[in-house]
Amino acid sequence: MQILENISLKPYNTFGIDAKADRMVIVEPGDDLCSQLPLADGQPYIILGGGSDMLFTTDYHGTVLKLSPEDPDGPSADGVMLRTWGGMVMDDLVQWSLDNGLYGMENLSAIPGTVGAAAVQNVGAYGVEAKDIIESVEVFDIQLRKQMQFTNAECGFAYRDSLFKHTVGRYLVLWVTFRLQSRFVANLSYKALEGLPHTTADELRRSITDLRWQKLPRPEEYGSAGSFFKNPVVDEPTYMRLKAEFPDMPDAHAVGGQYKLSAGWLIDRAGWKGRTQGGAGVWPKNALVLYNTGNCTGSEVTALSKAIQDDIAARFGVALIPEAIIV
Ligand code: EPU
Repeated sequence: MQILENISLKPYNTFGIDAKADRMVIVEPGDDLCSQLPLADGQPYIILGGGSDMLFTTDYHGTVLKLSPEDPDGPSADGVMLRTWGGMVMDDLVQWSLDNGLYGMENLSAIPGTVGAAAVQNVGAYGVEAKDIIESVEVFDIQLRKQMQFTNAECGFAYRDSLFKHTVGRYLVLWVTFRLQSRFVANLSYKALEGLPHTTADELRRSITDLRWQKLPRPEEYGSAGSFFKNPVVDEPTYMRLKAEFPDMPDAHAVGGQYKLSAGWLIDRAGWKGRTQGGAGVWPKNALVLYNTGNCTGSEVTALSKAIQDDIAARFGVALIPEAIIV
C-alpha cells in the first residue's frame, strides 16, 4: 500500500482536470485491508478507477482510494474463467485474453478505465456489456471491513449501472472474474460493425479500436470522459411524438417497453457539435463527448453540460443524465 499526500489528480482523470486531493491511498494485491486501510470513521473518501468517468469540479479534501495498476502475478485463467485484479487497465486485459485464447471481450476494445470500474459502470460498447461476461466480483466492504464476493445476479447490473453505483464508496472492487469462451465467434450484432474486417478476434479488435478512435479524442491530445451523457430511456408516447416530429431521428432500441434514444443525435441535431464554452467543448466528431480544449476546469465542463441539458429538455422534452460521476 502506498500513501501520497497533497497530490494533483491531473494524471488520474482522463479529463485532465487539475484538482488536488489531500491524500491518495494506492491499494496493492495482497494488502491486508482489514487491518491496514487508513480510513478513520467519518473521514471523507472516494474510490477512483481509471478516472475516465469522474469529473472533478473542485479540490478533494479527503482520501482518494485507488488500486495499483499492477498485479505482479497477472490475470489467472482456469478454463474459460479469467480472474483479474480490478486495477488492471481494461484494454490491456482484452489484449491478454486474446493472447491467451479466450474470447468474448474483443468488442470492449479501447474502452478507457480499469477492470474494477468496468464492473462498477457496467461499461458497454458495440453489442457487449461487462455484465454479459462477468461471473463474479470480489470486493472489500469498507463499512463492514471484510472481503466478500457478489455473483453476477447480485451485482444488480443494468445499462451503465450496478449495485456499486448505488452504494457509492462502500465496496472497493478488488477482483473481477469473467466467463469467456475458448472459441472465437464474432459478435457483429451492433449495426455500426457491419462490413468491418472480423476474420480473427485480433482483426475484430483492431477494427473496433479504429472505429472508436474515429469518434473519440486521442487522450494524448485532449482530455475527455468518453460519452458524457447516458442515452436517455423514454416511454412509448414520448418516442412516438419525437419520431413524428423528427423523422430523421435514428430508430431507438426497445428495452422492456421503453425506448433508448441516441443522446449523441439529440445533441448533434440541436447544433452543439463542435461548439465550445469556456475551456470545455463538444467533440466535433461526436456530440456525446465533452472534452477539455486546453486547461479547462471541472466547473466549465459542468456549465457546458448544464447548457446542453437545458437546451435538450426545451427542444425535445427529454432529460439527459450524465454518465460521468461529478465530484
Ligand atoms: N449520432 C449522431 N451524432 C453524433 C453522435 C451520434 O447523429 O454526434 C448518432 C449516430 O449516427 C447513431 C446514433 O447516434 O445513429 C448512435 O451513435 P453511436 O453508434 O456512436 O453510439 P452511442 O449510442 O452514441 C454508445 C455508448 C458508447 C459506445 C457506443 C458503441 C452510451 C452512453 N455510449 O454510444 O460508449 O462506444 O454506443 O457501442 O451508451 C461510453 O460509454 O463512454 C462510450 C463511448
